[in-house]
Amino acid sequence: MPRAPALLWLLLPGLAALEPISVGIAIGAASALTGYLSYPSFYCSYVECCPGDGHRLNATALRAQLDARLFGQHLAKEVVLKAVAGFSRNSSPKKPLALSLHGWGGTGKNLLSQIIAEHLHPAGLRSKFVHLFLATLHFPHQHQVKLYQEQLQKWIQGNVSACPHSVFIFDEMDKLHPGLIDAIKPFLDYYEQVNGVSYRKAIFIFLSNAGANLINKVALDFWRNGKQREEIQLKDLEPVLSLGVFNNKNSGLWHSSLIDRNLIDYFVPFLPLEHKHVKMCIRAEMLSRGHAVNENVVEVVIDEMTFFPKEEKIYSDKGCKTVQAKLNFHWDTVMGDTKAEG
Ligand SMILES: *[C@@H]1O[C@H](CO)[C@@H](O)[C@H](O)[C@H]1NC(C)=O
Ligand SMILES: *[C@@H]1O[C@H](CO)[C@@H](O)[C@H](O)[C@H]1NC(C)=O
Repeated sequence: MPRAPALLWLLLPGLAALEPISVGIAIGAASALTGYLSYPSFYCSYVECCPGDGHRLNATALRAQLDARLFGQHLAKEVVLKAVAGFSRNSSPKKPLALSLHGWGGTGKNLLSQIIAEHLHPAGLRSKFVHLFLATLHFPHQHQVKLYQEQLQKWIQGNVSACPHSVFIFDEMDKLHPGLIDAIKPFLDYYEQVNGVSYRKAIFIFLSNAGANLINKVALDFWRNGKQREEIQLKDLEPVLSLGVFNNKNSGLWHSSLIDRNLIDYFVPFLPLEHKHVKMCIRAEMLSRGHAVNENVVEVVIDEMTFFPKEEKIYSDKGCKTVQAKLNFHWDTVMGDTKAEG
């Protein structure tokens, strides 16, 4: 009963002091109140609540956020909007939603996960219904895999029992021990219930670099053939995101067991970022810090980035990953200079 009880507890001390007859009325009023407020916005503006089943994700708002914050990823946007909005509209999904995000570091996988989380739970990554796991941070020791397995299963079970709309994000999937994949698998499957808990409304997001080199190659081929990046379609990447990746030992065998059983619903490719996209990241970061965009700073920061391949230098090695750190480093210097000039 995690949904509304605290409101009742707030009212109960007051009830004890009342005459029996008014207690009856007060209890009636209280239950009418909690019934009316099946998603009690007053209570929930102080304490984070799990969204009720009638709650729908706002796809317009999600699209607007993706447009404003995620750059150069027309495919990822399209897939995620379709997947997440569709899942949120479905009142009886047959399995939890499982997304697998692939691409080079800094291309926006973490950002996209964060944006999805924020649209399901306004507190985003800080929400108690959103759980982020980093393979190397949370599960670092090979010899403790047994312990991690038990822990992880207990957590997933406990959290989904408390809120069916829980979101689980697993970063660095390539580094996650196969035993832990096995531990997650039962929750992703088409079971109505596992030990009395239904996992069908939960969302699992897996992040990895697997397939990144192949995705980059497709993008580069398009570029070399004089075609627009936006012309790249999902079908151009399908072969890459199915067999190519998963038979390659270096990119991790973890997928095979999930894929064989069709437990992943969508593969989401992230393209390597060009100069103009990195510049967009830099400008967005300035704005998010409450500063006006300063093109001098943009140039200084972008000049420090490295691009590949060696000859053409089209794509950023680290995507937008180092933008924040570089901006921290250069901001004062450059702003100081501009002030001095002015
Ligand atoms: C969805 O989001 C849009 C844009 O932020 C907003 O204008 C609209 O009112 C929202 N719709 C609902 C039902 O909240
Ligand atoms: C929910 O998951 C977190 C880890 O993200 C864990 O610390 C917590 O104990 C879990 N809650 C329950 C009720 O299992």
